[in-house]
Amino acid sequence: MTELEKLNKDIEENYLQKFEIVDKNQIISSEREQNTIDHMLSIFNGKVENKKILDIGCNFGLFSVMLTWMKAKCTGIDPNEKAIEIANRVKDYLGLKINYVLGKFTKEWLSKKKFNYIICTSCYHYLWGHFKNHDEIFKLFHGTGADIFFEDALDMTDYSCNEYFTKQFPTEKHLYTKELILDAAKKYFDLSYMGDHLNGTRHIYWMKREK
Ligand SMILES: C[S@@+](CC[C@H](N)C(=O)[O-])C[C@H]1O[C@@H](n2cnc3c(N)ncnc32)[C@H](O)[C@@H]1O
Repeated sequence: MTELEKLNKDIEENYLQKFEIVDKNQIISSEREQNTIDHMLSIFNGKVENKKILDIGCNFGLFSVMLTWMKAKCTGIDPNEKAIEIANRVKDYLGLKINYVLGKFTKEWLSKKKFNYIICTSCYHYLWGHFKNHDEIFKLFHGTGADIFFEDALDMTDYSCNEYFTKQFPTEKHLYTKELILDAAKKYFDLSYMGDHLNGTRHIYWMKREK
């Protein structure tokens, strides 16, 4: 088995981000991932050269790779050891410079670092446990000086959303409505782009820091 075949097999078996590396310059993503990439292209393309981007919950680093191909300087953080291991192998295979950090995103982690953009897709719900409420999270994001590319992941149709969240976060029920999240975000950011619900899976917001 070649290195590339092994890498693609590991991505497939560990599955959270579905994609296949074709060669050093090309990745094919599943429809769900491609939806987010399309939003990213429409927002970031041509605007991120040398900009510092934090990819929270980066998983195998698909979005960090896309943004690095757009000449951004990416840092990805994820507490999943296997995900970071694969992300590093993907990065090395593609010959890219990306800084991957194994760990959870917490308030303390961000306090000394500066980013131009923060992307947080399909992992916002994992941050709840580290914060009092949505307000605290968006206030923290705002304090970094970054604009945010954000997905609340509350629109998934492949399983019953409420059932899923109730199981995962039984004591945090009060946190998970889309309106609450958006209301908190809008206190600190201008909503300048709201993605469609392509395939009902991903619901993207592009939030700019108020001037
Ligand atoms: C559903 S995946 C989303 C991956 C990617 N952002 C995407 O949109 O395809 C959620 C990721 O969040 C990561 N995660 C879980 N808790 C986290 C935390 N406290 N801080 C940062 N990432 C976290 C998981 O390990 C997982 O890789």
